[in-house]
Amino acid sequence: MKNPTALPAWKKLQQHCQQAKGMHMRDMFDSDKDRFKRFSVRLDDMLVDYSKNRITPDTMNLLLDLAEEADIPGAIGDMFAGKPINNTENRAVLHVALRNAAKSHVTYDGVNVKPAIDKVLKQMEEFSYKVQHGQWRGATGQRITDVVNIGIGGSDLGPRMAVEALKHYRQNVRVHFVSNVDGTEITEVIERLDPASTLFVISSKSWTTQETMMNALTARCWITDILGPQAIEKHFVALSTNARGVSEFGIDTDNMFEFWDWAGGRYSLWSAIGLPIAISIGFDNFRQLLNGAYAMDTHFLNAPLSENIPVILGLIGVWNTNFLDIRSHAVLPYDQYLHRLPAYLQQADMESNGKSVDRGGKRVKYSTGQVLFGEPGTNGQHSFYQLLHQGTEIISSDFIASAWSFNEAGLHHPVLLSNFIAQPEALMRGKTADEAKDQGCPDNLVPYKVFEGNRPSTSILFDRMTPFNLGKLIAMYEHKIFVQGMLWNINSYDQWGVQLGKELATVVCEQIMSDAALGHDSSTNAMIEEIRHRRA
Ligand code: F6P
Repeated sequence: MKNPTALPAWKKLQQHCQQAKGMHMRDMFDSDKDRFKRFSVRLDDMLVDYSKNRITPDTMNLLLDLAEEADIPGAIGDMFAGKPINNTENRAVLHVALRNAAKSHVTYDGVNVKPAIDKVLKQMEEFSYKVQHGQWRGATGQRITDVVNIGIGGSDLGPRMAVEALKHYRQNVRVHFVSNVDGTEITEVIERLDPASTLFVISSKSWTTQETMMNALTARCWITDILGPQAIEKHFVALSTNARGVSEFGIDTDNMFEFWDWAGGRYSLWSAIGLPIAISIGFDNFRQLLNGAYAMDTHFLNAPLSENIPVILGLIGVWNTNFLDIRSHAVLPYDQYLHRLPAYLQQADMESNGKSVDRGGKRVKYSTGQVLFGEPGTNGQHSFYQLLHQGTEIISSDFIASAWSFNEAGLHHPVLLSNFIAQPEALMRGKTADEAKDQGCPDNLVPYKVFEGNRPSTSILFDRMTPFNLGKLIAMYEHKIFVQGMLWNINSYDQWGVQLGKELATVVCEQIMSDAALGHDSSTNAMIEEIRHRRA
């Protein structure tokens, strides 16, 4: 991989950007009646309309040249072939193997990992069935009614988002999530539950994460204090790569669902980490989620670059970030069930591409990952959309909706959809001073009623947010992140940036609980002293 700024297409894009910057999308639409057709792409019932981005046919051609020059096809091939593209940890990135039901052979380090993947999927299928149908019972013989997933980051955000997104498909068992080390979360969750009918799923790839271990210990005390130590066997299962840690915690490794270091935490919901999803919606629906992701994988692997959804979105992301200097991106699902999608994508995108050192160890001299945030529409409209429409900062956005709701209640869904359509139109078109005046706006208010427009967005529409479509949507984002990471020549699969704060917290924790001398800066010392004093 190369420094992208040295590629000929990058230089041409810089020149092209000088003209493109002055163009308004309103004029682009007015002068090209085929713009939607030109800049939209479909995969089954998924429609991706990227025509409301600040692109021309020349922009797209140059971006596609950039993809060729950066050898994105080669990079895609390397990922699917299991090459160690996570170069700082010398690991392959093989989450795509987890959802490939068609393939019987996936080699990693000379070993075919497919039989192990299939074995764990079978174990998940049997276990989720037993829990859902009352065949797995608590220590006192009671049916499991509530499952609590304890995990954080990738061991929480993916399953939590998917369980919420697919709530319509929920069967028999309630699934809860605890991630924060703040004791409030676990306290609030367990106080509503009966230990005799509660199953804890402890999810941690490393089995060393402080938050998860602390919450797991609290859960273990809650169960054993009431039901006795022998109850662990029926009330705890583990999802991890660390069999030794699991066994030391007291969970029999027969009740452990394995996964592997080549499945990165934020890409792991397709692995054993997806067990809470399978328990919530049933294994057949979980399989549909995997199948949807596989459909997107197949598209990503085979579609030409110019029709390849994740490639197009990744290229537009780079265009917005590096050429139009758009530093933030909003994810706006017009679907209440997708309310955790922005939180999930914050980790997926920002932990992956929030990097400032390239794959060769050199500091990059260009921008990488955008700041990502979002809220379901229409709540966001009554919150931060003011800045999207009229702020000094330009923010790109993704609008996501389905034509049909699982809860068609009178006019609710048409009204929701009208907002899904109107907001991107307003962001793109804006309102001129003349238009404001024509609408009777008094002269003194005209400046406030003008909308510059020209704010880029992409709209993604499905028929319904089924498990299959959710799989496609998530895999689309995973691959978009991959494309951007490859174009920026960074490693999207490590996360060294989360370590320093963790290291310092270990030291500070001991200091808060003791009188030890403090050797930090004056602010940190003073804050520790304050906490000591107030908690004395
Ligand atoms: O926040 C850092 C991180 O390592 C994430 O990448 C990961 O998803 C999370 O912690 C949880 O890690 P584990 O599954 O090992 O507990």
